[in-house]
Amino acid sequence: MKKIIVGNLKANMNMDKVGDYIYTMNNSINSDNEVVICPSYIYIPFFTNENFNVGSQNVSIYDNGAFTGEVSAEQLKSARVKYVIVGHSERRKYFHENERVMNIKIRKCLDNELIPIVCIGETKEERIEFKTKQVLRMDLLEILKDLDRDKIKDLIIAYEPIWAIGTGIVPSPKEIDDIALFIKDIVKSAYKINVKVLYGGSINTTNIDKFKLLNDIDGFLVGGASNNPNEFVQIINEI
Ligand code: 13P
Repeated sequence: MKKIIVGNLKANMNMDKVGDYIYTMNNSINSDNEVVICPSYIYIPFFTNENFNVGSQNVSIYDNGAFTGEVSAEQLKSARVKYVIVGHSERRKYFHENERVMNIKIRKCLDNELIPIVCIGETKEERIEFKTKQVLRMDLLEILKDLDRDKIKDLIIAYEPIWAIGTGIVPSPKEIDDIALFIKDIVKSAYKINVKVLYGGSINTTNIDKFKLLNDIDGFLVGGASNNPNEFVQIINEI
């Protein structure tokens, strides 16, 4: 099965680096897996028509209209965006996005044939208190509440433990596989569909070989390491 490797560039990269980044990605990727790059909105048009897909890091809860500073799902679709990261923990922390907002954003994506990459993950405290599965289940059911089963068959869930993001600390491969299966089971019993699950959090060139063969992980969401095109290509080519 093809894996999906997504680079979340976050609010990094300036205009003078875009050309080099794309050049390296175009000339060095040697993989049958699907590669998706999620740059800041302003760079999205540069990332289309290349040998990878382009995704967005966010989408508005509003449709086209008088919403200064927003970017709608319809606009993303018209810019040939294929995937949208929804509810990244940084958006939840700094922009107070909650499950209800995520649910609306997913609906906007689905109405515009964009594939949402829905982020969930526990905090360090929740992990220490053995609440990981409880938190993930509650979050997931709230986020996916009353969605149209026929539309969500392509939906992707990204398991990103908050304590693993940007810290260099990762769960064990067994833990990750166990959580991925847990997530798949929840979605399967609620919606009777097989959802794809990605892992994200401190993936880099030195630890990817431990994770790349996990049974229930369908790909990776890479943050920091995707900012350096050489490093990101190394990860992609290793998988
Ligand atoms: P890091 O790979 O930098 O830990 O970030 C992961 C992430 O937040 C991807 O969305």
